[in-house]
Amino acid sequence: MTDHRIYNFNAGPSALPEKVLRNIQSSFLNFNGSGMSVTEISHRSTEFDQVINDAVARAKRLMKLDDRFHVLFIQGGASLQFAMIPMNFLAAGQTADYVNTGTWSTKAIKEAQIQKKDIQVIASSEDRDFSYIPKDFTVNQDARFVHLTSNNTIKGTQFASFPDTGNVPIICDMSSDFFSRPVPVDKFAMLYGGAQKNLGPSGTAVVILRKDFLEKAFGSSENQELPTMLRYETYAQKNSMYNTPPCFGIYTIELVLKWIEEDMGGLEGIEKHNQEKGGLLYDFMDASDFYRPTADKDSRSLMNVTFRLPSEELEARFIAQATQEGLGGLKGHRSVGGCRASIYNATTLEGVKALIAFMEKFAKKEAA
Ligand SMILES: Cc1ncc(COP(=O)(O)O)c(C=O)c1O
Repeated sequence: MTDHRIYNFNAGPSALPEKVLRNIQSSFLNFNGSGMSVTEISHRSTEFDQVINDAVARAKRLMKLDDRFHVLFIQGGASLQFAMIPMNFLAAGQTADYVNTGTWSTKAIKEAQIQKKDIQVIASSEDRDFSYIPKDFTVNQDARFVHLTSNNTIKGTQFASFPDTGNVPIICDMSSDFFSRPVPVDKFAMLYGGAQKNLGPSGTAVVILRKDFLEKAFGSSENQELPTMLRYETYAQKNSMYNTPPCFGIYTIELVLKWIEEDMGGLEGIEKHNQEKGGLLYDFMDASDFYRPTADKDSRSLMNVTFRLPSEELEARFIAQATQEGLGGLKGHRSVGGCRASIYNATTLEGVKALIAFMEKFAKKEAA
C-alpha cells in the first residue's frame, strides 16, 4: 500500500487537512484510551459528549457566535435543509424571498415550491448562465427571511460581501464556503452547509440557527404537526442527539475546526490563506490567453475556480494529463463541462502552485 497522496481539487467530497486524516488514522482503533474506535463508542458516553460539545464550542468561537445561536448537526446533507427551512419557518400567510444564483439555489427554491409555500424569487443570474452575483435587488420587508447561496459550487461564483437586507434576516446555504472567511453573523437567522467541502465527511449538515428566530417559527401548534426528525426544535432541545447522530462526521468536523482554530489562525487566517491561493490562480489565468475564467471578475469564487480552455478537446486532454501528473478532480460539473479547480480550506498553497506550473507547461506545449 502506498501513502502517496495526490493534489486533490475535487468539489465535494473533497480534500481534508492531512493532519486531521493522520490524527483519525492514528487514534482509530483506540479513541482517547477507551479501547474502542470513535465509531464504536456510545453517543451517550462522556467521550462522545466531549467531542460534540467541543465541536459546538469551536464553531461558536470561530464564527464569533454568542448565546443567541444554536449549533446543530443534522443528517441528510444540505439538501434536506432545503426542505426543512420552508417547512419550519413558513406558515400560511408568511412569505420568503429567494435569490437564485445557480443549481443549488434552484433546488432550494424547488423544495419550497413543492410544499406550496409563498415564496418569491427576487433576483436571479440565470439570464447569463449564473456567471455573476446579482446586485441591487430589493428584499420585501414583510418577508420572514431571504435565502441566499453564498458560494455557487458549480458555476464558480461567490458573494464577495453580503447584501443589505434591511430588517429581513438572511438564511444562507454556505455549503461550499462555510468556515472559509469571517461572516457578519448579525445579518443571519440561519447559516447552514453540508460538511463535505470544508468540514468533514458527507451526510452531515452543520446548522447555525438563531434561537429567537426558531422560537418564533410557525404558529407553535402547526410546528408540532411536523415529523419529529424534521423539526429544528428537536435538534435544539437535545444537543443534536435526539437519535443516534452521525458520530464519525461530528468527530471529523471537530478535528477540522480545531485545525482551523489552532493551526490556521481562525477564520481571519484561513481567509488570508484562501485569498492567496485564489489570487495566484486567477492572476495566472488573467495573464494567459489560453485559460478563461467563466465567472465575472467581481463575482469570482475563492473556493471553486471554473475555467475554459480554447476547445473541449483540449479540456479533455488537460484533465487527463493533469490526472496522470497527480492533479485530480479538475473536471467541471457534468452539467456545465469545462474545468474546475476546487481550492477549499484544506488545499495547500503548494497544491495551487503545482497546478499553475502544470497549466503553464500544458499551455506552452499546446500553443507550440
Ligand atoms: C452550495 C451547495 N448547496 C447544497 C449542496 C447539496 O449538498 P448535499 O449533497 O450535502 O445535500 C451542495 C453540494 O455540492 C452545494 O455545493
